[in-house]
Amino acid sequence: MAEIERHLMVVIGGTGDLMRRKLLPAMRRLTAQGQLKDRVVLLAAGRRTKFDDESYREWAKEALEEAGMPIDEDGSGWCQQCLYYRSLGEQTVDDFKRFRTAIEEFEQEHDLPGNRIFYIATPPGAFIETVERLGEVGLNSSPGWTRIVIEKPFGNDLDSARELNDRIHRYFDEEQIYRIDHYLGKETVQNLLTFRFANTLFDSVWNRDRISSVEITVAEDLGIGDRGEFYDSVGALRDMVQNHMTQLLTLTAMEAPAEFEADAIRDEKVKVLRSLAPFDPSQVVYGQYTAGEIDGKPVRAYTEEEGVAQDSHTETFVAMRAYVQNWRWHGVPFVLRTGKRLPEKRSQTVINFRCPSLALFQQRTQATVHANALILTLQPDEGFDLKFEVKEPRDPLRLQTQSLSFRYAEVFPDLPDAYETLLVDIAQGDQTLFVRADEVEESWRLYTPLLKEQLPVYPYEPGTMGPEEADRILIPRGESCPI
Ligand code: BG6
Repeated sequence: MAEIERHLMVVIGGTGDLMRRKLLPAMRRLTAQGQLKDRVVLLAAGRRTKFDDESYREWAKEALEEAGMPIDEDGSGWCQQCLYYRSLGEQTVDDFKRFRTAIEEFEQEHDLPGNRIFYIATPPGAFIETVERLGEVGLNSSPGWTRIVIEKPFGNDLDSARELNDRIHRYFDEEQIYRIDHYLGKETVQNLLTFRFANTLFDSVWNRDRISSVEITVAEDLGIGDRGEFYDSVGALRDMVQNHMTQLLTLTAMEAPAEFEADAIRDEKVKVLRSLAPFDPSQVVYGQYTAGEIDGKPVRAYTEEEGVAQDSHTETFVAMRAYVQNWRWHGVPFVLRTGKRLPEKRSQTVINFRCPSLALFQQRTQATVHANALILTLQPDEGFDLKFEVKEPRDPLRLQTQSLSFRYAEVFPDLPDAYETLLVDIAQGDQTLFVRADEVEESWRLYTPLLKEQLPVYPYEPGTMGPEEADRILIPRGESCPI
């Protein structure tokens, strides 16, 4: 692991939801015992003028308590030593000039060498203005290194993503930019690469000759919470498919990189995106949840959620087929499925293998044979299951599907949160798990035509796996191999 140099991390939007729920708990863990101990000073910045260092620390303590990480006796020093707050007022150029002076003074006071991370955790509407203000007052460079972190959503179609890239690139080089897709920080998602490229076992079967389909599901039991207004303007295709699910697809389909290095890996992912055939709208089904019950408790319909238009046609469920038109994957459907208010939170990639080429057992006996499958569970019960056929003892000949299983929790009880991993990588300057400019544009290039289609949105009841109309997109479960 590269050594982490002492640095200042500035979180703009430091009183927001992301800071409260994700960044503070991750920083707490990393600074209290972990890799960032004594390496970072955290400066939160926001519009609120009523905070000073002390009151911000109180706010942060509450946030950590809410996250189940109360500051105990010996941990209480954490906030005193490394957490500060400065107001950005109305975020005018003058406010940012003052902010720059404050940062310089602050670095002197704390004897920091001028290495800076600017984490833009503002609402998406304020991203670009904030980045430009930083650039305008010269905060795009420093005596050490300067890195900028941008959260999703990165644009809402190809044109807006390009414009964002162009405007950020006016002040920051690509090497300075860390675009977050937090799925890439999940250990189990990273393990897709290890699983594929450190194990020869699957190497020779990872292709169209042996694999009949790949299914990627990201199911969530929750609804849209208090994000109604935002969600209603994006929908599931933009919120989950264009980014998280497409990342899972590229990691499953990509070729081995020339070396295990950020650009080599990202080059291969971009190649997969370039090989994806334009999406066929007849292979896409949208759904929207109605009112109903989950675990015996009534839940509201999507259109009754706060901030959502009563006649909204925004999709809360997507099932679609994608085809990677290259030598390895030609003809193999990649089925993507995601939705809110499904029966449970579960993310899985299922690799369905082909049936044996000769129906040896089915021809003369009553035995049924099922194709092998590899199920990579990304959350919860992280791990994998390899499904294979065994003979039941005694006559008549019958086969049964059994599993070889691995569960992370049994071996590694403490998996880091995605944000912990990503924060350490940013501090180390490792861009492997961050989305490059061409990658985000290629992805929007694929999804933008689909966004322009007016597709029907079918209702589905909460607690189900989406509308029935989606069944034709999905791979039938449990079918036996043909005779
Ligand atoms: C976010 C989406 O990016 O990912 C949310 O905006 C979604 O709608 C969330 O709930 C899912 O993340 P995770 O890590 O809980 O699977």
